[in-house]
Amino acid sequence: MNKAEQFFSKGWCSFESDPAVKRWVEFALPAARTTLTDPAQEQWTRYQGTWFAGVNALPNDTSGRLQHGPPLAGQAIDFIASELGLPLFNWDQAQVSICYPGYPQPMQGETAGQHNFRKNRDAAHVDGLRGTGQPRRRFLEESHAFVLGIPMVEASPDASPFVIWEGSHEIMRSAFMSVLGLIPAADWISVDLTETYQRARKQCFDECPRVVLHARPGEAYIAHRLSLHGVAPWGETATAGPDGRMICYFRPELPDRAGWLSLP
Ligand SMILES: [Fe+2]
Repeated sequence: MNKAEQFFSKGWCSFESDPAVKRWVEFALPAARTTLTDPAQEQWTRYQGTWFAGVNALPNDTSGRLQHGPPLAGQAIDFIASELGLPLFNWDQAQVSICYPGYPQPMQGETAGQHNFRKNRDAAHVDGLRGTGQPRRRFLEESHAFVLGIPMVEASPDASPFVIWEGSHEIMRSAFMSVLGLIPAADWISVDLTETYQRARKQCFDECPRVVLHARPGEAYIAHRLSLHGVAPWGETATAGPDGRMICYFRPELPDRAGWLSLP
């Protein structure tokens, strides 16, 4: 199975160490560290300091490059252009996601159910379906093209790795298609997807293998935009340096929302 076949059947693929990615990581690491002490990013510290969510915190430009830094390049980027058909991409500012020993600690305002889901189900989610209101309802607020994970530092495989349910993207696609298929993409934002999503998520837990994606600086992985994925708790014997388990995630928005369901 080549990388594209794996990506489209399992919903993810990974890329071995690449000098271009390594150069980007080496240059971006100081900027990623700086986000932690930036008062504008303080809001992202969660779960009693065991997770810095750092959404769009990295100050890269729309090509993924940091000022005076090397281009965001390498096999993973080539794969996005050639296999996902997204060559001229407007890159978002990367998320700087940092987990520390003890993740996830309970957080104020979080119910016991939410905490247990984070602990026992890796806070599994599909990107873009944020919950709003009380009780929580889910709408398609963002339509990302994919999730590109770039580890910034060394950490052991049980140090809160990225986890994904293999094949979940096609279960999610059919479920959302059954509700959104006949509705113009411009109106998707107002369609309540809560129950559809919860049913599909349960099916993924029942039917799809949960796979841990561990990678080292210089390596990268891509997850399908419709995949169910999450972050595992910090393992009892997990190890990492002072930077914790730091991963940058790029999740650029699709230029056309209809592609969220129609693109391969
Ligand atoms: Fe996510």
